[in-house]
Amino acid sequence: MTYEFGMIGLGTMGRNLVLNIADHGFAVAGLDKDAAKVQLLHTEAAEDVSKITGRARTVQGTTEMAAFIASLATPRRVMMLVPAGAAVDSVIADLLPHLSPDDLIIDGGNSHYVDTARRVKALAEKGLRFVGVGVSGGELGARFGPAMMPGGDPEAWKILKPIFEAIAAKAPDGRPCVAYMGAGPAGHFVKMAHNGIEYGVMQLLAEAYDLLRRGLGLSVAEIAAEFEKWNTTPELQSFLVQITAIVLRQPDDRDGTRPLIDIIRDRARSKGTGKWTSQAAMDLAVPAFTIDAAVAARDISARDTERAAAAQLLTGAAAPTAAPDRAALLDALPHAVYCALVMCYAQGLDLLRVASKEYGYGTDLATVARIWRAGCIIRAALLEEITDAYEANPALPNILQDATIGGHVVSRQAPFRAIAQTFITLGIPAPALLNSLVYFDSYRTARLPANLTQAQRDYFGAHTYERFDAEGTFHTLWSEVSTAQASGPAPQAESLTKPIG
Ligand code: 6PG
Repeated sequence: MTYEFGMIGLGTMGRNLVLNIADHGFAVAGLDKDAAKVQLLHTEAAEDVSKITGRARTVQGTTEMAAFIASLATPRRVMMLVPAGAAVDSVIADLLPHLSPDDLIIDGGNSHYVDTARRVKALAEKGLRFVGVGVSGGELGARFGPAMMPGGDPEAWKILKPIFEAIAAKAPDGRPCVAYMGAGPAGHFVKMAHNGIEYGVMQLLAEAYDLLRRGLGLSVAEIAAEFEKWNTTPELQSFLVQITAIVLRQPDDRDGTRPLIDIIRDRARSKGTGKWTSQAAMDLAVPAFTIDAAVAARDISARDTERAAAAQLLTGAAAPTAAPDRAALLDALPHAVYCALVMCYAQGLDLLRVASKEYGYGTDLATVARIWRAGCIIRAALLEEITDAYEANPALPNILQDATIGGHVVSRQAPFRAIAQTFITLGIPAPALLNSLVYFDSYRTARLPANLTQAQRDYFGAHTYERFDAEGTFHTLWSEVSTAQASGPAPQAESLTKPIG
């Protein structure tokens, strides 16, 4: 018996993906050093067949690398789902002596794209093909349809396509949520940007919850009802809004009456993919205000002891004379959240645009938006319009320049600003929402005060500046006299300003 696909790492994600592949009629072999996990795979593969597909699954697990490799059809398709980092290199090292030229190694974890770039190169030198694939959707996604973001060798993608298209989530139009993302580590780069957006959206929803809870004094059940309502609108219908309502409806199982959310400590943890997104954006000079703020928001949340001490020392805003207008706020908030979400997606996609150009990935943004419509954590109705925008204009510099999307934001800026104002007045922190508004205002401002920054840089460091009225770079011998004798005649600009080069 030969198997069409091999999976290394039979943890929750690996096992679920094996069962998903097997449900679609492919024979799958699994490998894990832990015999208990292999046993669990056999047990799960044997149960519930009729409920899912009605046909038997062909699944075989083992703890032996040699037996695993020997059972695979060539060219071998070996995927690993192991923790990002050293474990990936260690699995590759274990695999190498067993593989032949043209075999495919597929890394489905959340690996850093820099590591993936290194592995693609090192394995290509040995005649092997390495495919970094972002897999999104968590446990259930892996089991019943994830969004998948493969990159690397385009020929390798052709070999994987039939299996990946079969197992991926299907968008409302029936198209599979998997496609080739581009050369080298592009698959993992796209998944990283997905996670950066995920951080931004989650933080925006947390801020909205905070405003409703502390600003308006709504009960958790009332807030859940708002999120449920939002999830029926084309603006906000999305996986993260949907699960927020579900999370808020969950009672504490220790007590049964109080909402679980009230008992969960306000310390956000992370595995680092949001930080990587901000770091990559900084490296490429891509402004990612919302994502940066979301990363920092998790960082400050982790300082809970320090915050508790500061809360005793530092008073906040004076209590407003009138309570916030409940109806007006409830009406405005979903529009403001929508605008901020658009900013967050705009930043993540802008990062992909710039990275693709700079690193030569050849990533097609319409394809990215299309495969994010289902299966992944950031799936949202608004991705339909984003897909349309890039399909209509593949060279779109930013989704805000699409007439439809830009129009939606412009027409909602009054509630966007009003909600930002409310956060500020009440002293409730909204790093992601406020930075989203700042991003919008920065992006739509034709002349920013960076002229002053340039003048200051030239003053203290002779860093030069450019002028509107002449080509080239200039340096001015800034006159101390002009500050000392502020009331005197202005110095002659020509005599002080020198073109450079
Ligand atoms: C997904 C998720 C998944 C994981 C995040 C969590 O797309 O399925 O993004 O990959 O849940 O990596 O990241 P943090 O632990 O950093 O929040």
